[in-house]
Amino acid sequence: MTSFQTRIAGTGHFLPERRLTNHDLEKMVDTNDQWIRERTGIYARRMAEDGIYTSDLAHEAAKIALETAGISARELDMILVATASPDQPMPNTACVLQAKLGAGNCAALDISAACSGFVYGFGIADQFIRTGAMKNILLVGAEILHRFVNYKDRETCILFGDAAGAAVLTRANPGEDSKVYSSHLHANGEIGDLFVLPAGGTKIPISQKVVDEGLQYVRMRGREIFKHAVRTMSDACQEALDKNGMKAGDVAWIIPHQANLRIIEAVAKHFEISMEHVIVELEDTGNTSAATIIVAMDRAIRDGRIKRGQNIMLTAFGAGITSGSLFLRY
Ligand code: ACO
Repeated sequence: MTSFQTRIAGTGHFLPERRLTNHDLEKMVDTNDQWIRERTGIYARRMAEDGIYTSDLAHEAAKIALETAGISARELDMILVATASPDQPMPNTACVLQAKLGAGNCAALDISAACSGFVYGFGIADQFIRTGAMKNILLVGAEILHRFVNYKDRETCILFGDAAGAAVLTRANPGEDSKVYSSHLHANGEIGDLFVLPAGGTKIPISQKVVDEGLQYVRMRGREIFKHAVRTMSDACQEALDKNGMKAGDVAWIIPHQANLRIIEAVAKHFEISMEHVIVELEDTGNTSAATIIVAMDRAIRDGRIKRGQNIMLTAFGAGITSGSLFLRY
């Protein structure tokens, strides 16, 4: 069977202008700038204005990615939106985005894998392109997480922000060097209770009681997540290297999920790669879940750190607990 190679044709990202800084949070909960910086590396998070939805952020990022790729929305075969904060349960945010882009009748699907969503989506898109079933796929990671955060809970409200990033993935032309080496997707549902958004589904439908108890907000066991994050991302990176007969020195850049600077540093240490080869972009964004990797990647492409021909390792973990890696030559 003929096998094709997947190429990133263009990327883009969008960050809302409104910022919530550590100093703003000092006035809201019992915390301080020094504690937050030392424990997370975060100074500010972005917050979408009222009346702006996840699909709006996705739309802005997608327009930039399509323009950079030189591909029109009408040429897309599929739109994938990785998100844990969709516009609404139904219809999916990818369909809303399809209409905003005027993308015709291509397939449109949301990926629900929390912070691992972009890596999961990339792995799925690669399979469709690899087999020749599809040629052009728009993959977006987009979140408005601040609407699911309790600004009285100092353990979570310091972490999360809003953003969108997009990549247009396409079939590489013969002779083009870009490819996805492999993707490795995992989950461990046995420890799913480490990070949850309890209400809003069939288990706990929204009611006044739910709202009074704050069950519409995320809940997290931070210290335990930290340990699993380091282990799962390190393992997923190693799995990708082993699969392709490579070593850490063959990787030009690792782009981990941008949850916390200390987690990123621990993964780099575990993976035996210098921080000079790690993309870190969370100080002015916070943890934007499914958007972090593609926002960080687009920033590094635009400022010239990431260059064509380099080997790039994407790795993520998130609620589920989901995790994975995607190893590519850009
Ligand atoms: N400001 C000041 N003090 C705080 C704050 C705060 N915002 N939050 C907690 N503390 C206190 C705690 O109450 C605790 O006090 P105590 O010792 O009196 O009990 C103390 O600080 C230490 O708390 P720890 O939980 O041990 O702090 P830790 O060093 O683990 O840092 C943190 C907490 C930043 C949450 C860390 O565990 C972490 O980043 N974990 C991973 C979280 C994460 O990535 N979540 C998202 C993953 S899934 C996804 O991305 C969707």
